[in-house]
Amino acid sequence: MNLSLSDVKTFSEWMNSAGKKDLSEIIRYFYEKSTEDERSVLSGSACRIRDMHYGGRVYFRGLIEFSSYCRNDCYYCGLQRSNLHAIRYRLSEAEILDCCAEGYALGFRTFVLQSGEDMHYTDLSLCRIISGIKKRFPGCAVTLSIGERSRDSYKELFDAGADRYLLRHETANEDHYGKLHPPELSLNNRKRCLYNLKKIGYQVGAGFMVDSPYQTYETLAEDFFFLRELDPHMIGIGPFIPHKDTRFAGFYHPSSRHTLILLSLIRIMLPKTLLPATTALGTADDMGREKGLMAGANVVMPNLSPLIHRSEYSLYDNKLCKGWEAAEHLPKLARHIESIGLTPDFSRGDHVDLQKGGAPT
Ligand code: 5AD
Repeated sequence: MNLSLSDVKTFSEWMNSAGKKDLSEIIRYFYEKSTEDERSVLSGSACRIRDMHYGGRVYFRGLIEFSSYCRNDCYYCGLQRSNLHAIRYRLSEAEILDCCAEGYALGFRTFVLQSGEDMHYTDLSLCRIISGIKKRFPGCAVTLSIGERSRDSYKELFDAGADRYLLRHETANEDHYGKLHPPELSLNNRKRCLYNLKKIGYQVGAGFMVDSPYQTYETLAEDFFFLRELDPHMIGIGPFIPHKDTRFAGFYHPSSRHTLILLSLIRIMLPKTLLPATTALGTADDMGREKGLMAGANVVMPNLSPLIHRSEYSLYDNKLCKGWEAAEHLPKLARHIESIGLTPDFSRGDHVDLQKGGAPT
């Protein structure tokens, strides 16, 4: 490779102007040919560029998985509606607020409300939950991760006080999208939702699974291309992990290696993005979350869901719910983060361009 990996500014410019062919080649290079030294230069560069913008701070978000019902049938997900073995639960409005109260006492100032696409929660009830949280916990940010909804619905939820929205695009390649989803779901609609959310004024998160079935270097290049175009405030990526009750049960069970490479490449391409070290990464590798932070991630999302429901939010097999991703073990998590030279930060943790009160781009 002629590209100097340690000249991070040039590398970043290159990642931003590269065509799909070059992007797929660089990913292939790091997956298949790179030496350990090259990979450590890559992650070192990613951390440096992160630290230029975020000063080594790692933001904490409290994750509340409030419903495991889902109207969709995504082929990879354990919560798909046709999975009759899935245990379904819903938290009441009061229970969701209780989770926030617990999180607030622990120091969290961002709550991520995540669920399957559960139409039991109407716009009205969601607005009540959001405004309830904002009123009772002033200064906190609310992130929603509740799937595809109409533009009007997104707008109402935003007006009720929601600040951010996570909606992974899953794959930016049309054919690949069709191999992961039933015909009633479309990449076009997914993208439309993301652009709508951005226009409304949310801080928006997109993302995809690494090593998902049928993913190729070409589809990954399209993911990078799409991310560059959308320029989201947050990007969530984590390894695909097969779920026993899905058609992908027997598929390749990845390690953390590919995710770590892609985290660094994404950090270098979009230096200011908020990039979580995900639970899936911690599930695929005991040290996955620490490694993710050392590859350029800067967010962790400990779980605040009620203990009795944690194992029921089963997106994939063996999803961690009792280790250091659990909010109860915060001091341990904070110590881990400090031991790798980073600084736990419990503030709202907005995207750096919004921390000075500027408007979303
Ligand atoms: N492995 C890893 N991640 C998964 N998700 C869903 N199913 C799986 C799986 N089997 C991810 C999807 C979704 C997010 C909430 O969880 O990317 O957007």
